[in-house]
Amino acid sequence: MSKTAVGILATGSYLPERVLTNKELETMVDTTDEWIVSRTGIRERRVARPDQASSDMAYEASVKAIKKAGLTPDQIDLILVATVTPDTMFPSTACILQDRLGAIRSAALDVSAACTGFIYGLATGSKFIESGMYRYVLVVGVESLSKITDWEDRNTCVLFGDGAGAAVLGPVEDGRGFQSFVLGADGSGGVHLNQKAGGSRLPASLETIENKQHFIYMNGREVFKFAVRVMNTATDEAIEKAGMNKEDIDFLVPHQANRRIIDAAVERLGLSEDKVVINLDRFGNMSSASIPVALDEAVTDGRIQEGSNLLLVGFGGGLTWASTVIKWSTKEKK
Ligand code: ACO
Repeated sequence: MSKTAVGILATGSYLPERVLTNKELETMVDTTDEWIVSRTGIRERRVARPDQASSDMAYEASVKAIKKAGLTPDQIDLILVATVTPDTMFPSTACILQDRLGAIRSAALDVSAACTGFIYGLATGSKFIESGMYRYVLVVGVESLSKITDWEDRNTCVLFGDGAGAAVLGPVEDGRGFQSFVLGADGSGGVHLNQKAGGSRLPASLETIENKQHFIYMNGREVFKFAVRVMNTATDEAIEKAGMNKEDIDFLVPHQANRRIIDAAVERLGLSEDKVVINLDRFGNMSSASIPVALDEAVTDGRIQEGSNLLLVGFGGGLTWASTVIKWSTKEKK
């Protein structure tokens, strides 16, 4: 018996209203708009309200995606929330979202794979459907990175943004949907990108707060080298596993960390500019939310069409990386 083909039936996204421009950052730390744009491609980013947690943004994106899929929350079987900025250590943000949505039949858990989390979530969710255990899985990428950013550290505070993107997975016609997945991890690189305190190794204390160990730590140069390397290997592997060539790819939807990292991948794949979905100029690096927000934009504005071949690729803390090739179809197989 052939396996059930699984695809994305609908997407949704949410961005906080507050826009923080590079010009405004110039008044906060020793930086310039010119430095930020030339080194990263970022011009502005969104910042969540002080009272707005990740589950609040996840809720807004999820409601849109579930509605677009023609479903109601009680039909969702599983909720996977990819985030490094959960509302609380526990309960999971997925459980908080499940309650808020009224997804009464759904199991719920968080996925912790930093910027790669959304693709890890797609892979996990699709396997539950493929196996026949579940029919509809909601995968959300959401981050409130502004809450764990040191706003006095110019090395990191210019890079990040807040937002949420959601996707409803379900069965699609044979030959459509996910064609391949590549998932990878190298825990030895965890030293380059992390939040040092707040877990069982270094519980929160006055000292950890004074030492700023609850903020994002990043060795930018090391992460940059790693990112360029895995963008190459992960894209090649996903295309090969899908039985395709790079010429078959219609759209690249990459993690949005740095324009230079994306440009290197685009050049290697021989893609033209209009085949790459970019949003980091407006939203910065939203970690696990970057890819689903970009995907939702390109679907909503009509760039991505039924039958388009998409290549999604992400990398981030862990260190982790992942990619997938999708033959786009939002038509559910009944
Ligand atoms: N404004 C002005 N100068 C700055 C700023 C700033 N905002 N930030 C750093 N600088 C300075 C540095 O202090 C350094 O000065 P020095 O030479 O006197 O020491 C100089 O600029 C160059 O620093 P580099 O680190 O070499 O700059 P680089 O060109 O590598 O760009 C960047 C830095 C943008 C962080 C880049 O390394 C990068 O994008 N790395 C990858 C980040 C990434 O992909 N993260 C993904 C995962 S994020 C997650 O998982 C949450």
